[in-house]
Amino acid sequence: MIADAESAKARSVREMFASIAGHYDFLNHLLSGNVDRLWRRAFVREVEQRLAVPHPQILDIGCGTADLSLAFSRLGSVVGCDFCHPMLTLGKRKVAMARNPYQVRLLAADALSLPFPDSSFGVVVSAFVVRNLANLEKGLAEMRRVLGEGGLLGILDFSLPSAPVVGPLYRYYFTRILPKIGRLLSGVEGPYSYLPESVRSFPPPERLRQLIAAAGFTQVECHSLTGGIAVLFLGRRTVREDSKKLEKPATDFAP
Ligand SMILES: C[S@@+](CC[C@H](N)C(=O)[O-])C[C@H]1O[C@@H](n2cnc3c(N)ncnc32)[C@H](O)[C@@H]1O
Repeated sequence: MIADAESAKARSVREMFASIAGHYDFLNHLLSGNVDRLWRRAFVREVEQRLAVPHPQILDIGCGTADLSLAFSRLGSVVGCDFCHPMLTLGKRKVAMARNPYQVRLLAADALSLPFPDSSFGVVVSAFVVRNLANLEKGLAEMRRVLGEGGLLGILDFSLPSAPVVGPLYRYYFTRILPKIGRLLSGVEGPYSYLPESVRSFPPPERLRQLIAAAGFTQVECHSLTGGIAVLFLGRRTVREDSKKLEKPATDFAP
């Protein structure tokens, strides 16, 4: 029954992103007033400051149209994966046109069952994805599995600001105005109502921080961006005592 519910959620998320893929970038930048670009840049900067070794192998989970993969290609070679083909197709076009400092490769994969060996990457990042996962714990466990020892995890997602004036104003925009603009410009009914709903029903930042720590990450930090509209989580992969003997050293991923 649980597996059925998970595959139903995965299917509806995949179909939803397929239905808005063509409008995704434009609406993303419009509805956020281009602040999403600043968030991705801040994300790369924060990870860069914490890198233990230069030029790591980076995995971008739920890469969509590849904006985050392209931003991270400044630091090392990137593998972006997503389970929605129309998003990936658009991403591949952007990657082909961009001048990437390091290589960016995109491939189809499910975040809950990643097709990579253990400890394949030095950095695992994901932006605006975890809220959509049918099984968050499984998603975090997969992130941990594919990260090498001491590797860095970065997760960016929306939250709801709680400041006295800005909070209610933003909530009004996010729940009332944004879905209308999204529907009008994309011509699709559901996705832009799903967005505020999925943020509202997702664990608040402190709870998500605890879940990330419980999944086997240490030094888990949680940074509020733009007054709490988005939150960036950073953590490091620890080695569990009981699994030390089984771990392999981080290796380059060769698809
Ligand atoms: C809101 S978009 C974010 C795209 C991109 N990370 C960005 O910053 O713009 C969410 C993406 O996550 C992908 N996604 C959601 N659940 C997934 C899963 N289980 N496996 C792989 N991709 C998933 C969707 O297909 C979609 O492209």
